[in-house]
Amino acid sequence: MASSFSARLSLHVILLSVDLLLLSSVVTPSPGFYSAIFNFGDSLTDAGNLAFFSGVKAPASRPPYGETYFHRPTGRFTDGRIILDFIAQAMRLPLVPPYPAGRGRHNFAKGANFAVAGARAIGNAFYEAEGFNITWEDYSLGTQLKWFDQLLQSSSPSVLAAHDILNQSLFMVGEIGINDYNHVLLDDRPIDSVRAYVAPVVHAIGSAIDALVRTGATMVVVSGMFPVGCIPVFLAKFQTQDAGAYDPATGCLKWLNEFSQHHNVLLRRQLGRLRQAHPRATIVYADIYGALMSIYASPRRFGMTSPLMACCGGEGPYHFNFSVGCGDPTSTWCGDPWSYICWDGKHLTEAAYHVIAHAILDGSYTEPPQTLM
Ligand SMILES: *[C@@H]1O[C@H](CO)[C@@H](O)[C@H](O)[C@H]1NC(C)=O
Ligand SMILES: *[C@@H]1O[C@H](CO)[C@@H](O)[C@H](O)[C@H]1NC(C)=O
Ligand SMILES: *[C@@H]1O[C@H](CO)[C@@H](O)[C@H](O)[C@H]1NC(C)=O
Repeated sequence: MASSFSARLSLHVILLSVDLLLLSSVVTPSPGFYSAIFNFGDSLTDAGNLAFFSGVKAPASRPPYGETYFHRPTGRFTDGRIILDFIAQAMRLPLVPPYPAGRGRHNFAKGANFAVAGARAIGNAFYEAEGFNITWEDYSLGTQLKWFDQLLQSSSPSVLAAHDILNQSLFMVGEIGINDYNHVLLDDRPIDSVRAYVAPVVHAIGSAIDALVRTGATMVVVSGMFPVGCIPVFLAKFQTQDAGAYDPATGCLKWLNEFSQHHNVLLRRQLGRLRQAHPRATIVYADIYGALMSIYASPRRFGMTSPLMACCGGEGPYHFNFSVGCGDPTSTWCGDPWSYICWDGKHLTEAAYHVIAHAILDGSYTEPPQTLM
């Protein structure tokens, strides 16, 4: 252990940029040498938890979900791998097993994925106090953190060892928050009220990161919001004759993308505060907005011929239909998901996730610009 650690340390010195070393003399896990990955989020990174909770009712439990890579539905809301899978594979770690779906089957010695599709950043108590009619399970960050604590406290020896590897683990948080905003964006509440939710969402994300660092996390990568205005469900919902509402370069709805950017500005500010509070931790912002906009700006460079259309779904603008989801008997799918950014109207294709994952891994879309490998 001691010699492998010093080897790790010297690689760390070679790979980290000089200013980072000047900023912190603290040992963080060396790039490429993570022992485990722990992930928190929603359907962008769920790898089977919602499917476990809701059984065959979950859309991602039906074909053609999973078709490209796994050749069967796995509970991932895409045709193949999610960002987290690409990151795990690049680090030569096993695909991160879903928890709680994998409880009893996996030992989670190399990490666990707590993300659940539909998860909100904020817990149900907040929404109850806001007068919402709660019709959803609380899979919020608070719940996901409880599962993480449960895992750390369980008595299996391989899990106990997890305590010792927290400082050699990669923690991924997000994307999370879109389901909080969907109460307003998709549920016919006054649209002007959506911005009021950004501060509490970002606060909830910040509290979760704070809790992880206090538990022993030293490397946390936090994903921002994707460009909501380029996603078929929102393009269909807010379709307008007003040509000025669309970005002429991409066809995305400008006001919705400005909303995503607003979320990201507040999130980055929150991360700045967390870095000051926890100088020993490395807290990285993953700019999935920027990484995705690079595809929307020149889709053909990435082999994408239908950037704004969903590959899989029902009849309607952008191949999205609110009453016919991907996998429904009357839905259709494109057959060439690698030419699409969007898979099912709400989530992205494996091809798009692949681009984003590598933009995060090589540091081209992270703040600070830091390679994770
Ligand atoms: C809450 O939602 C459920 C399910 O949609 C509905 O049956 C119920 O009537 C609603 N309750 C209130 C108080 O609106
Ligand atoms: C990581 O934490 C373990 C257990 O607390 C400790 O023994 C080890 O020295 C730490 N490693 C580093 C690199 O800080
Ligand atoms: C959505 O699908 C339903 C059922 O197939 C169809 O009747 C309706 O016209 C579709 N909506 C649009 C906007 O195409």
